[in-house]
Amino acid sequence: MISTTSNLNKCQLINLPRVNDPRGALSFVEANKHIPFSIERVYYLFDLSSGCSRGSHAHIHLEQLIISLSGSFTVKLSDNVNSQTFHLHRPDIGLYVPPMIWRDLVDFSSGAVCMVLASLPYSEDDYIRNHSDFVNHSFFQK
Ligand code: TYD
Repeated sequence: MISTTSNLNKCQLINLPRVNDPRGALSFVEANKHIPFSIERVYYLFDLSSGCSRGSHAHIHLEQLIISLSGSFTVKLSDNVNSQTFHLHRPDIGLYVPPMIWRDLVDFSSGAVCMVLASLPYSEDDYIRNHSDFVNHSFFQK
């Protein structure tokens, strides 16, 4: 079932634990503690082409935490009425993205690595790839 209210206000940056040490830093994520979901899948974007954009879709059920493990990039989020933009550039901060949010990932720096923790296994059925479908799917309309 599609939600009748916007999830945009649930999108938020999450400060992850960071253990500093003379040898370097260590961060970690525990499911259902630092993030509000169980982790069923991890994927990552790397070797990205200069000027590329990723995303350009929404998910019906999937929850995600997006982390810049290296370099930086911009995440544009929209519920079809309002939008929010986040610049991710630290491995100790993640961006929580709930279902039914259109996302575009752009402005990847050279060598950027984007890791995503996801609440569900991969399923093409969970994607809304056509923006018009997203507008029609979303009861939260202009
Ligand atoms: P997609 O989610 O569209 O990538 P992006 O949003 O970064 O542009 O996925 C690109 C391709 O990779 C698509 O054919 C599906 C496949 N894929 C998997 O097989 N498993 C996964 O976990 C993900 C995220 C994608």
